[in-house]
Amino acid sequence: MEVKAFYWKGNSLMLIDQRMLPEREIWLELRDYRAVAKAIKDMAVRGAPAIGCVAGYGFVLGVKSGEDPRVVYETLRSTRPTAYNLFWALDRLWKAFEEGRDIEVEARAIEEEDYTANRRMGELGQGLIPKGARVLTHCNTGALATAGWGTALGVIRSARRAGKDVFVWVDETRPYLQGSRLTAWELLKEGIPHKIITDSTAGFLMRKGLVDCVLVGADRITRDYYVANKIGTYSLSVLARLHGIPFYVVAPKSTFDFNSCGEDSINIEERSEREVKFIRDVLIAPEESPALHLAFDITPPENITAIINEEGIIKPWL
Ligand code: MRU
Repeated sequence: MEVKAFYWKGNSLMLIDQRMLPEREIWLELRDYRAVAKAIKDMAVRGAPAIGCVAGYGFVLGVKSGEDPRVVYETLRSTRPTAYNLFWALDRLWKAFEEGRDIEVEARAIEEEDYTANRRMGELGQGLIPKGARVLTHCNTGALATAGWGTALGVIRSARRAGKDVFVWVDETRPYLQGSRLTAWELLKEGIPHKIITDSTAGFLMRKGLVDCVLVGADRITRDYYVANKIGTYSLSVLARLHGIPFYVVAPKSTFDFNSCGEDSINIEERSEREVKFIRDVLIAPEESPALHLAFDITPPENITAIINEEGIIKPWL
């Protein structure tokens, strides 16, 4: 069965608590928009497209329970600043609300469209992946990060379905470990061969000729193709360029912020230093030492071989 991060039950939203994976598969049932906002902020659900879909359902829950629509909209918007899909989805819901359209229908449409976009990007993207490719990926861009299938991981899924026996290097993705906890879990469920590596291993593997391409997702893409994605993505892009390895970004149009231009237009989320100094509840650094936790970085267009969205393949540097 395909992995799902969330599903809508009509009067409530079901979410798999991604903080507990892979050890435990716990489903949360959310009936209140504030609980949805908290689940996004605390990363029970994460990944830009999934955040957008879930925020849409949060808006439906809030408005249908008689809360002030403007407060619901603003509360959900203030959860995570970088993932553009969040703003895109809430603006769509707001427009539907203002026009007197059915907001539940709109929220469902966002989920369906995201799934369709992922399948399409998978098909388009897999054409770029050679048979037997050793693909390196970062963070989690799979079914857990989207309405299903996935962006970069969706391309890997589609390549497998097309009979290409790809192998995946999974960056563990410090500090939240979306790679080792979530991507590895998804790949295992699909029977896709992979190995988890520490983030610092990638460069040496590239030098040894063990990486054929890099596939990542995106949280926000400016109109001049600066890509915000999980911290560590920029370093991978520099390494890939140095070693002459194709570096692909896979993201639906809902991740493109056509109003923004240049890297300074992107608001980079800074999260708690606790997430760097602790793994779950285990302290792994001196408690008194300060830590910096930038959740995302920005990759410039000159480091990107191609961006794949549901409409086609963009070569930002040509
Ligand atoms: O902090 P997260 O886990 O929400 O960050 C997720 C990522 O950076 C993903 O690469 C991105 O959202 C694309 S997922 C389809």
